[in-house]
Amino acid sequence: MERTFLAIKPDGVQRKLVGEVIRRFETKGFTLVGLKFLKVSRELAEQHYDVHKERPFFGSLVEFITSAPVVAMVWEGDGVVAAARKIIGATNPLTAEPGTIRGDFGINIGRNLIHGSDAQETAQREIALWFKDEELVNWQPHLTPWLH
Ligand code: TYD
Repeated sequence: MERTFLAIKPDGVQRKLVGEVIRRFETKGFTLVGLKFLKVSRELAEQHYDVHKERPFFGSLVEFITSAPVVAMVWEGDGVVAAARKIIGATNPLTAEPGTIRGDFGINIGRNLIHGSDAQETAQREIALWFKDEELVNWQPHLTPWLH
């Protein structure tokens, strides 16, 4: 079953949007399989954003993500990686569509509230980076096959 990694960034936590974000993924029909609240170490932040290490915003991005706690999550479901990117919206909240998390709650690219893996391979890498196997719960909600 397909899984993706999401993190509610420090601004999302400070803005009290944790419940709102979880609600959107729950009511869409995806299944939560991992969840933790943590202060991110510099090492984890640098590994997570490794692809951006040459970009001018890398330093401030790492500073920001390590500045206050985040909520790290793994969600499961058919097509969850691409669907989560749609639910989250474009990187810049000013141009993100209304109805998306970033479009509804943000105005600043450096404070865009939430991270979501951009592809299935990235999701696998990020899940392994943030979670141990035993921190992920293998379960299925008790739904009939036609109910999501
Ligand atoms: P990126 O992976 O391009 O976006 P996304 O989070 O939508 O997958 O960039 C990672 C984060 O880096 C992004 O969420 C916010 C930050 N960032 C900036 O601060 N300035 C920028 O110009 C870009 C492109 C990203």
